[in-house]
Amino acid sequence: CFWFGYFDLELSLLQSFSCDDFIVPNILERRYVPPLLKNVAWEGFRFAGHEIKIVESTDLYGATVWPSALVLCYFLEIHGRQLSIEHKTIIEIGAGTGLVSIVASLIGAQVTATDLTELVGNLQYNVHRNTKDKCKHIPQVKVLNWGTDLEETFPKSSLHCDYILAADVVYNHPFLMELLVTFDHLCQERTTILWAMRFREENTDIENEFIANFQKLFNMEVVYDFPSLDIKLYKATRKCNGQSLEFTKPIILASYRIQCFNLLAH
Ligand SMILES: C[S@@+](CC[C@H](N)C(=O)[O-])C[C@H]1O[C@@H](n2cnc3c(N)ncnc32)[C@H](O)[C@@H]1O
Repeated sequence: CFWFGYFDLELSLLQSFSCDDFIVPNILERRYVPPLLKNVAWEGFRFAGHEIKIVESTDLYGATVWPSALVLCYFLEIHGRQLSIEHKTIIEIGAGTGLVSIVASLIGAQVTATDLTELVGNLQYNVHRNTKDKCKHIPQVKVLNWGTDLEETFPKSSLHCDYILAADVVYNHPFLMELLVTFDHLCQERTTILWAMRFREENTDIENEFIANFQKLFNMEVVYDFPSLDIKLYKATRKCNGQSLEFTKPIILASYRIQCFNLLAH
């Protein structure tokens, strides 16, 4: 379950442990709850040597920190140095309450956290409150509605993105094609995507379909696999034969239309 190219030493040390047994408890214990109930609901996390307080929003999916986010934060904390995350340019999509972007900023990256318009107020609040005077680069927060105004928000001519981060962005929502278009727009030749995916039994078809479409554009490998959480962390880069969505879009669109039709028919 390790990213072999980078972590041979760590792998040899941990070979005798199952990743689930060894790492998952370590990840889960990073979350703590406030000792006293207050009128503002918040959750606490310990990453990168900091206590991070996350205020929940009222939106359904952006409301809390999802377990995939913890997995991605743990990876950034443990392997950030090997990846030379410091000063790297990072865009997080579907950032929600902002934990992943906050951890990446605390490690020293130049981060832009993005989400839907209705989420960015709370996202900005959490990012600002947890990074103020603690980071080498002040993190940015932007609206990014998948598949919409991408060229206006992130023009390709000036775009520079070393990493795209995404935690729990594939589930039963109607914007999977737009999500893929967004990955395609932001991912440059040298960009690495780190995507933590939560698998849900009821969404198996949707998840498999998305992964199959994703693999048409990107090479992907599993970095972590935690069956007890139903979460995998993938690392992906653009395929060198550089198939663009312009060529594959009609095929992918057709498969999504069939999927939508099937969903409506049931
Ligand atoms: C399950 S939540 C995960 C949030 C966060 N990444 C985490 O793991 O805690 C999914 C996130 O995707 C965002 N999202 C959903 N549809 C979107 C869209 N069409 N464009 C941009 N963001 C979207 C939601 O607002 C939400 O913040």
